[in-house]
Amino acid sequence: MQYLSQLNDAVRFLRGHIGDPPDVSLVLGSGLGAAFASQVESERLNYSEIPHFPVSSVVGHAGQLAWGRHRGTRFCALMGRVHLYEGLEPRRVVFAVRALAMWGCRNFLITNAAGAVNREMAPGQLMLITDHINLQGANPLEGDNYDDLGQRFPDMSDPYHPDLRRLALQCARQLGIELRQGVYIAVRGPSYETPAEIRMCRTLGADAVGMSTVPEVIALNHMKRRVAGISCLTNMAAGILDQPLVHDEVLQVTERVKEDFARLVLSWTERMGA
Ligand code: HPA
Repeated sequence: MQYLSQLNDAVRFLRGHIGDPPDVSLVLGSGLGAAFASQVESERLNYSEIPHFPVSSVVGHAGQLAWGRHRGTRFCALMGRVHLYEGLEPRRVVFAVRALAMWGCRNFLITNAAGAVNREMAPGQLMLITDHINLQGANPLEGDNYDDLGQRFPDMSDPYHPDLRRLALQCARQLGIELRQGVYIAVRGPSYETPAEIRMCRTLGADAVGMSTVPEVIALNHMKRRVAGISCLTNMAAGILDQPLVHDEVLQVTERVKEDFARLVLSWTERMGA
């Protein structure tokens, strides 16, 4: 039960350092954290200062916890995350969101950068995740179940909460931001997919592909927390265009859409607290 006592350490620290849990927690993917942070006043801590928080080794994943109040809503933002492809155990990947949930946060917005599998979608668009397919060959609930957190076989029939999704769509409409909707397929990475793998993803019913989010969403559903997810489509997935895929492109497109992204996340945050 070492893992649970580590979670308790982290929660005790957050309670002591910050106080009451936030109304909403945001998980901000590649390059998206900075965009959000530039729009709100927040206090910050490096993950390395929080007991047992895993620290990412990926460029663009800063690894800071930000917190503050935006128009009345108390928020926390995980800026940067760890991934399975960094070689961590699945339950380590979800340590931070579990700590925020144990602290008492009930609502989560998980974001990521993703490749467009659906040919009708395009780089620069934002996609509200309606459902997911887990192709990571791993699950954060593997191993002994922590009965204090949730049940052995949690229901996953509505992993992205309808009320939270509806609110995201309303916010996007009001702001005049296009928000597509689709299924996110999670792969393990870190190599990008082959064209044949992308054809498979499309056949399976996916609209966007990425290397994150699904572990967090499973762990939070296990804890019966409410979750929404937004993908920032940074590139067409492999084999759709006649060009190779590079991480720099992912960062560049993120740079281009980060304003809209931050406006949408802020509006959603504000209305979640209302
Ligand atoms: N594939 C997997 N992960 C990604 C991609 C992609 O095309 N783009 C951004 N993250």
